[in-house]
Amino acid sequence: MRRISRCSHGSTCGRRNNLAPRPETHGGDLAAARAQFGRQDFLDLSTGINPNPYPVGVLPDGCWSRLPGSDEALRRAAAAHYGVRDPSCIVSAAGSQALIQLLPRLIPAGTVTVIGPTYSELSRCWQDAGRAVTEIPGIDALPPDCRIVVLANPNNPDGRVIAPDRLLELAAMLAGRDGMLIVDEAFADCDPSASLAPASGAPGLLVLRSFGKFFGLAGLRLGFALAPLALAETLRRALGPWPVSGPALAIGEIALADQAWIATTRRDLATQAAALDMTLRHAGLDVIGDCALFRLVAMERAAALAEHLGRRGVLVRAFAEHPSWLRFGLPGAAHERLAAALESFAKDRL
Ligand SMILES: Cc1ncc(COP(=O)(O)O)c(C=O)c1O
Repeated sequence: MRRISRCSHGSTCGRRNNLAPRPETHGGDLAAARAQFGRQDFLDLSTGINPNPYPVGVLPDGCWSRLPGSDEALRRAAAAHYGVRDPSCIVSAAGSQALIQLLPRLIPAGTVTVIGPTYSELSRCWQDAGRAVTEIPGIDALPPDCRIVVLANPNNPDGRVIAPDRLLELAAMLAGRDGMLIVDEAFADCDPSASLAPASGAPGLLVLRSFGKFFGLAGLRLGFALAPLALAETLRRALGPWPVSGPALAIGEIALADQAWIATTRRDLATQAAALDMTLRHAGLDVIGDCALFRLVAMERAAALAEHLGRRGVLVRAFAEHPSWLRFGLPGAAHERLAAALESFAKDRL
């Protein structure tokens, strides 16, 4: 168990220690990569975003120039896609990160337990709101007095999946002590079989969904909370009017209802992920975690490989706290470029 201590700046300061807050590192920072490697043309595998985005097409008149209207149609489409019975339980926002930021200010006091290692914002946002955060390695290590539990399912970066019935039991237990289970399902669209979305609305359960990853439109900024009605209402009020842009309303409604594209994409992503496995294993890499949108590799010379790939214009995700890990997103049509860059590392090593 890792207690993420608070600093000496007073009781409302939730920093990890008494140093100045450090910026979180995320994938997809092309400006930093360009500065580091002195080149422009990157194959960016540092995120877990579908490299073949939903074809946006022509948007309805006025969606750029008018204020966004009601999100009711978007929420109905989201409810059908996620399997949520009551669209009123759905809150639309400009990406699931916007909701992750907001939750610590709206969910009642209580210690926060994060199952990690995971997407760093799931801890960081609670710490910044002055909440005590404990990180534990798995659901079996929950402290007996836990009230708010946060996890990603599937997890980022290792793809670990916790069975939905265990999570539902946990949500019911936490509801009984006025607590809450927060399940970040940013990567659940590829295989929704473990999703808790159909149970959303139940007390003690909050599910977060990201539109950008599976639909390959992370720049659109669209995500959802699936929450008990009272919390959904609180979230909507906190987000205020127009929480989602007109283009996001229009594209989200069409894409979430496009069952043919969704089914084909699930199959394609699985095929692409299997091909990525072959390429990584062919290069002698040990894949220790997976989700259809990324693979996690562990190796001694991870930093050297990331550097080697970066110099050849292939950007992968490294982890300061886990220096032997590298995460690879799907290369799409640029598979050969990745394979060649990996092969040259293997040759350099000999
Ligand atoms: C596990 C997880 N949750 C949430 C997010 C935020 O996604 P978005 O705000 O684009 O919906 C990310 C982004 O990388 C993530 O990895």
